[in-house]
Amino acid sequence: MTRHLITSAIPYINGIKHLGNLVGSQLPADLFARYQRGRGNEVMFLCATDEHGTPAELAAAKAGQPVAEYCAEMHEVQSKIAEGFRLSFDHFGRSSSDQNRKLTQHFAGVLNQQGLIREVSETQMYSPTDGRFLPDRYIEGTCPNCGYDSARGDQCDNCTKQLDPVDLINPHSTISGATDLEMRETKHLYLRQSAMKDQLDAWIDSKSDWPVLTTSIAKKWLHDGDGLQDRGITRDLDWGVPVMNGDQPWPGMEGKVFYVWFDAPIEYIACAQEWVDAGKGTDWERWWRTDKGATDVTYTQFMGKDNVPFHTLSFPATILGSGEPWKLVDFIKSFNYLNYDGGQFSTSRGRGVFMDQALDILPADYWRWWLLSHAPESSDSEFTWEGFQAGVNKDLADVLGNLVSRVTKFCRSKFKEVVPEGGTTAAEDKGSADKEGHYLLHELRERLEAYQTHMDAIEVRKAATELRAIWVAGNEYLQAAAPWTVYKTDPEKAAAQIRLALNLIRLYAVLSAPFIPDTAAKMLDTLGTTDDSWPDDIYSALTTLPAGHAFTVPDVLFAKITDEQREDWQTRFAGIRT
Ligand code: 2FM
Ligand code: ZN
Repeated sequence: MTRHLITSAIPYINGIKHLGNLVGSQLPADLFARYQRGRGNEVMFLCATDEHGTPAELAAAKAGQPVAEYCAEMHEVQSKIAEGFRLSFDHFGRSSSDQNRKLTQHFAGVLNQQGLIREVSETQMYSPTDGRFLPDRYIEGTCPNCGYDSARGDQCDNCTKQLDPVDLINPHSTISGATDLEMRETKHLYLRQSAMKDQLDAWIDSKSDWPVLTTSIAKKWLHDGDGLQDRGITRDLDWGVPVMNGDQPWPGMEGKVFYVWFDAPIEYIACAQEWVDAGKGTDWERWWRTDKGATDVTYTQFMGKDNVPFHTLSFPATILGSGEPWKLVDFIKSFNYLNYDGGQFSTSRGRGVFMDQALDILPADYWRWWLLSHAPESSDSEFTWEGFQAGVNKDLADVLGNLVSRVTKFCRSKFKEVVPEGGTTAAEDKGSADKEGHYLLHELRERLEAYQTHMDAIEVRKAATELRAIWVAGNEYLQAAAPWTVYKTDPEKAAAQIRLALNLIRLYAVLSAPFIPDTAAKMLDTLGTTDDSWPDDIYSALTTLPAGHAFTVPDVLFAKITDEQREDWQTRFAGIRT
């Protein structure tokens, strides 16, 4: 038994995520967690909401709620939707937790002791009316480049020019509208990442098995331009983890908080503490401290490509720089983007299908299968309604659903709802005359191995392709064996064929569970079995259900998506969500 620590990038608290976000981290992480559990390994699967920073403050202000209250509500909303998609987190935490506050302050303290923090004085826009410094997104004005009158402090949305707040003409505070803004001196803490450049470089070099997408992004940040830069880790904001030097005040840092990207990854660790404090487990350190038993843990992170620099450089700098024995990530699986119907999914512009909407129109497994089998691994991929309809109808309804329905219904009509007796199957007897069965078993043995290899390597699309081929092999077996014809002349032989096919359904439930957990559970339920053990040996796996074992014919596993439905959804989701 091996031990797997698995984390998904923690989604921002502001608003419900779209399907592109889902397939870029949480969903493949869940696939891997379910697979490892299925294989009998010990898994700790963690995720949380990323609750600090200006986006959270702004979203709360827009909702007219205090930010803490807004975050608490949105956490519940995201948590429910995650359950709807069957994301099997051991804990879904919150970066605003006490545990994360203490741990973030602890890391800042030890990094300081290690000489890796420096103080920097800079000037920033201050609003006397609001009584605070204004981060970029709190300042608007006229773009000096194109004249657009609502350009933000960091960028003009009209002409996309990157801006500095001082560039804006007639800048004003978006909080109060105040225009009496002034530049004031303020002090910030910087993490001396540049001092750790060689160590990080060597560490990345040691990861030869990492996806190129991951290492190429890390290398670019390490070597392009002036190389790895020190990073500001504090902000003049109210909402966040107050800056402390461990448990001591930090002179000059009063009223400031840590930058959201400093505390967010630390929540991966704090989340395990939350898991203990929620009474779900007892020992978080055996997952996270190499001095407390975490040496045999394999730690895998999942994320979209925009998150890679923080996970390959900044967070490792925090961990390594602390000089403490924290568990470092072993494998970083990153994803490209999923596009939506000829453009981008966009939260800010409300474009695409959002997680709650998706569950309103179809059960989770339909989405899980399509998204995972089209995961944007080697390049960006695209969601189209036609592609979605075709994938669901072909793979799920025509191949898997049809097999289950044909086998169980034929058995009911000829042998009742009981695994039939008679003859021998290739799985029961290697000398059996069941030619088609032998052929099937041979193919399954090879494909099972390939499936496991891809799942172990987290090659999501390849694994999906192999699983689909495993389903297809079952249909081809039925076609070749043709029990409905054989029954007319040799009912015993037909009984053996159906016995093998019913066992095949159980095997398919087990192998498919990481992708389509609800359907897999339904298949096992239908077969009247709770035996979901992973097949070590294909022969014994296909003799689990003995003759005489009762089952029930299930309802349709997957309804086909009709052209009318597709057109209806296409129109419904063509606009923007408000
Ligand atoms: O991109 C995002 O959605 C970020 N909230 C991810 C943070 S991952 C981590 F660092 F915790
Ligand atoms: Zn402009």
